Amino acid sequence: MEYKIALIPGDGIGPEIVGEAKKILDRVCEKYGHKFNYEEVLLGGASIDACGVPLTQEAIDTAKSSDAVLMGSIGGDAKTSPWYKLEPSKRPEAGLLAIRKALNLFANLRPAYLYEELKGACPLKEEVIGDGFDMIIVRELTGGLYFGERKTVEENGVRKAVDTLTYDEKEIRRIAVKAFEIAGKRRKKVTSVDKANVLDSSRLWRKVVEEVAADYPDITLEHMLVDNCAMQLVHNPGQFDVILTENMFGDILSDEASMVTGSIGMLSSASLNETKFGLYEPSHGSAPDIAGKGIANPIATILSAAMMLRFSLDLDKEADAVEAAVQQVLKEGYRTVDIMSEGMKEVGTKEMGDLIAERI
Ligand code: IPM
Ligand code: MG
Repeated sequence: MEYKIALIPGDGIGPEIVGEAKKILDRVCEKYGHKFNYEEVLLGGASIDACGVPLTQEAIDTAKSSDAVLMGSIGGDAKTSPWYKLEPSKRPEAGLLAIRKALNLFANLRPAYLYEELKGACPLKEEVIGDGFDMIIVRELTGGLYFGERKTVEENGVRKAVDTLTYDEKEIRRIAVKAFEIAGKRRKKVTSVDKANVLDSSRLWRKVVEEVAADYPDITLEHMLVDNCAMQLVHNPGQFDVILTENMFGDILSDEASMVTGSIGMLSSASLNETKFGLYEPSHGSAPDIAGKGIANPIATILSAAMMLRFSLDLDKEADAVEAAVQQVLKEGYRTVDIMSEGMKEVGTKEMGDLIAERI
């Protein structure tokens, strides 16, 4: 099969890790007889440097005309990078939010599971880890606080800032449906996370989620307040299957969930619209402190490429092969520095990519 893939290397370690993911995709093409035509798209700081803005219409058009988008990471060091001297709407992150909105990528899937091989890197006690955990966070990505009206004003000499958290029932329903569909293929449990003891948006969220749940009688629904969820993630992570939540809560909880797996360098993510189209990126950021050093862990991006094969291109067998190759390399004891432990073999970004490619 022939596919068009938009590649967004982005900033920081982005170009290095996307390079390794592309190596893996090329190997998949070679082995399974596919052809991927790549087109590079600028986003974030790279786009600011080249075009003066963090996202151009041309970039949106290229992404839209592709079968899927694979991204590295965007953004730089807020203290030292000139990008952060620009007004907030012109900074790298604004480009990422804008492309999510432009492509209508409302469903962000962030799986977090513990690899048997990486148990040692998990910061939780063994009795808390138990038999391990395997959850997926389904985060609403194009609404809520991220996209509500915001402003900073001065009233009577006092500075005041406003951010608005808005959801309508359609936005809640479509993300809830995604979560229930996904739960149906997993352990059939949805934990919907909100702050319904305080927020109106959460009370509506709860009602609509319950309406959706009525269509999925075989799936267990529970509601959990976000503060409790933050605690439960480190107290008993094994209880979660699918966590469904709004944009801001999902941002925070997904970082927490990723850390309990041992390293944020391992976690992939998919951002999907109503169709098969999606943007795939690691859950971690651009790590400007280690950019260009050749030590970044490319696995999250490689696993994101596997998600792309599965969800957008329907290449399940190929996705399985990539995931199995990652597992195999870990089993053989190869580690990048972020997941390094005693007795293992430390390798750099490129070597990790080569090792995985060789095992496909
Ligand atoms: C993420 C990131 C982004 C977000 C930032 C870079 C705007 O933290 O994808 O989780 O908050 O969504
Ligand atoms: Mg985040």
